Amino acid sequence: MTRLVFIEPSGNRCEIDAADGESVMQAATAKGIAGIDAECGGSCMCATCHCLVVDAVNPLPDMQSAEADTLEFTAHQMHDNSRLTCQLTVTPTMDGTVFQVIGR
Ligand code: FES
Repeated sequence: MTRLVFIEPSGNRCEIDAADGESVMQAATAKGIAGIDAECGGSCMCATCHCLVVDAVNPLPDMQSAEADTLEFTAHQMHDNSRLTCQLTVTPTMDGTVFQVIGR
């Protein structure tokens, strides 16, 4: 299990244990993290799983072009630390990573 931290749109800070191999979005929605709607179910089409990576001990995998394209057209501004959490697979190197949930 890998510990992930989410700061919900309300400012509430939640720590969860995520199973390695699932997506960060799947881990967050399973634990009821507010503001991650994941309307497309992880197909990289809706951007309702958009978060900002505000702290990471280790670098996250590079963003692929499909993720960048979706983020470019999201209603919320894309930032240098923007990621679609459905495109991030939980690994032990993510332990302690902090995500700011964008929400709506
Ligand atoms: S769940 Fe739709 S883009 Fe991530």
